[in-house]
Amino acid sequence: MRILVTGGAGFLGSHLIDRLMEQGHEVICLDNFFTGTKRNILKWIGNPYFELIRHDITEPIRLEADQIYHLACPASPVHYQYNPVKTIKTNVLGTMNMLGLAKRIKARFFLASTSEVYGDPDVHPQTEDYRGNVNCIGVRSCYDEGKRVAETLAFDYHRQNRVDIRVVRIFNTYGPRMLENDGRVVSNFIVQALRGIPLTVYGDGSQTRSFCYVSDLVEGFIRLMNSDQTGPINIGNPGEYTILELAQKIQNMINPDAEIQFKPLPEDDPKQRQPDITRAKTYLNWEPTIPLDQGLELTVKDFRERIYNS
Ligand SMILES: NC(=O)c1ccc[n+]([C@@H]2O[C@H](COP(=O)([O-])OP(=O)(O)OC[C@H]3O[C@@H](n4cnc5c(N)ncnc54)[C@H](O)[C@@H]3O)[C@@H](O)[C@H]2O)c1
Repeated sequence: MRILVTGGAGFLGSHLIDRLMEQGHEVICLDNFFTGTKRNILKWIGNPYFELIRHDITEPIRLEADQIYHLACPASPVHYQYNPVKTIKTNVLGTMNMLGLAKRIKARFFLASTSEVYGDPDVHPQTEDYRGNVNCIGVRSCYDEGKRVAETLAFDYHRQNRVDIRVVRIFNTYGPRMLENDGRVVSNFIVQALRGIPLTVYGDGSQTRSFCYVSDLVEGFIRLMNSDQTGPINIGNPGEYTILELAQKIQNMINPDAEIQFKPLPEDDPKQRQPDITRAKTYLNWEPTIPLDQGLELTVKDFRERIYNS
């Protein structure tokens, strides 16, 4: 198949491309390199089955493909809040452009949505029919309301124009190629421990998160895309850890003498988030396989190479 991956030079997109290329597909990677880098896809450049297009999805484009994985959008608060108007344009205009393309070329369309659509949830764990508790005027809303609109657009194109859609709600994912400066908790702690500076925990560290290793997530993507489910389907690892537990794990792995420092909690930071993955298990026969300790070892190895070679 010919498969278009928007945001393909980013963290998740590049891992997805690795898997699709290894499966023998033809892949078109479309990216504006806002948070993505050529380094992530370097090994495919020059391969006749791989094409790289520098393009901003807020502008329309004409291409031919059988499937579209739509991932383009900055994913971490530092990057999506850098230019919030651009973030919402990417989510709304960008998703509309990609759905318009899917409609025209009759491609199956996969939307990378997020657990952020649940906002600061008041049910725990979150099932897909939970409608969320989102602040529409907060600093995170360019992203979480943006993704909610993106989901609405996908379902409207599906109902009105019969576009064949797949919607995944991704929970915190980590792994090699995460950006060093993206302010996400796993990368923050790893970079701090490797640089020998204190690990910063916001609040008292009792807020919980679940962490899915990237190869598990990509497996879930491919299963959903090739299933007969439209979704939305949660993909994430339900194993729940407090932020303090995570800090201590990374501290022990890299530098047991590293200091842990506590700082005030930022605005709208969810206290708890954990996926209910019953649908993914039932309809996709999917569940995560990589335990946190193993995933962290692989991630630390990648960061170590990047930090010590830069
Ligand atoms: N990583 C996670 O834990 C997570 C969690 C929930 C949802 N997601 C979603 O998954 C997708 C990928 O996330 P990621 O972690 O790989 O982030 P990332 O920032 O590494 O990748 C996003 C990619 O999209 C590109 N991009 C951004 N705006 C663009 C635009 N206007 N036009 C073209 N390209 C553009 C960036 O350059 C980058 O390569 C995003 O849609 C994100 O919302 C990720």
